[in-house]
Amino acid sequence: MSADSQPMENVTLERDGHLAIVTVNRPSKLNALDDQTIAELDCTFAGIEQDDAIGAVIVTGAGEKAFVAGADISVLAKQGVLDGKQNALRGQALTSRIENCGKPVLAAVNGFALGGGLELALACDVRFCSSNAKLGLPEVSLGIIPGYGGTQRLPRLVGSGVALQMILQGDPVDAGEALRIGLVNAVYEPAELLQKTKDVANRMVSRGPQALALAKQAVRRGAHLSMRDGLQLEADLFGIISSTDEMKEGMAAFLEKRKPSWLRK
Ligand code: COA
Repeated sequence: MSADSQPMENVTLERDGHLAIVTVNRPSKLNALDDQTIAELDCTFAGIEQDDAIGAVIVTGAGEKAFVAGADISVLAKQGVLDGKQNALRGQALTSRIENCGKPVLAAVNGFALGGGLELALACDVRFCSSNAKLGLPEVSLGIIPGYGGTQRLPRLVGSGVALQMILQGDPVDAGEALRIGLVNAVYEPAELLQKTKDVANRMVSRGPQALALAKQAVRRGAHLSMRDGLQLEADLFGIISSTDEMKEGMAAFLEKRKPSWLRK
């Protein structure tokens, strides 16, 4: 099944070899996430999961200024208790879908990643940012709290002390600070960011696709388990990968001193 069947207004999906580049495309609103954009991202990732030709995904924002400057404040301003909760649940469903996608997902944070924008990046497996990026959860300055997973994912990534300061103070951090606290894996000049992200994504794509999916699953599911249960999960998944043709090909290629030829439809 192909991921590009649905027409989209606020999200574009481009292919570059086995990479899918998903761009949030509302530059006049700094790519803010309104309901339609959330729905289009959700639909795009649902298609990507089913598309065997896609080996890894890059998420980025259109224009030179912003990755995503947050949930759309004009939508948030109108919400009450019921639609407020629904709004959070929709954003959480999207970020959980990305987190659990069976392919590596890399964020190329090309400018502001605020509120829902940082929460989108936090759901990705790897984050790279441009030297001019600003990343933060400014929700308390608007009289709300993060609702797309930020209160849960940020402390798990950078530790609760650093996360609580970011969440309670509401000020963004710059690229250097984001690197120092482990919020991003590397910082690049704006003109280099996408290519550097593609280079890493392509290295991942050169590995066994089922191994990538199961390794990611072990890490993602293991995060919710005790060490004992996590090790059991790892052993179970190791058993599964040991039954695959992919393992046979990987081992044979090493012993025969050649590159593996992975089965990808
Ligand atoms: N929701 C809706 N619209 C947004 C938005 C958001 N989160 N972020 C930016 N925009 C819109 C602005 O309203 C403006 O639209 P307009 O031209 O129709 O007035 C446009 O995007 C450009 O933004 P602007 O504020 O003029 O750019 P700037 O360079 O002066 O400031 C920011 C950039 C990111 C500092 C500023 O836009 C901002 O603080 N945005 C909100 C960030 C935020 O609080 N996000 C969390 C939401 S929970």
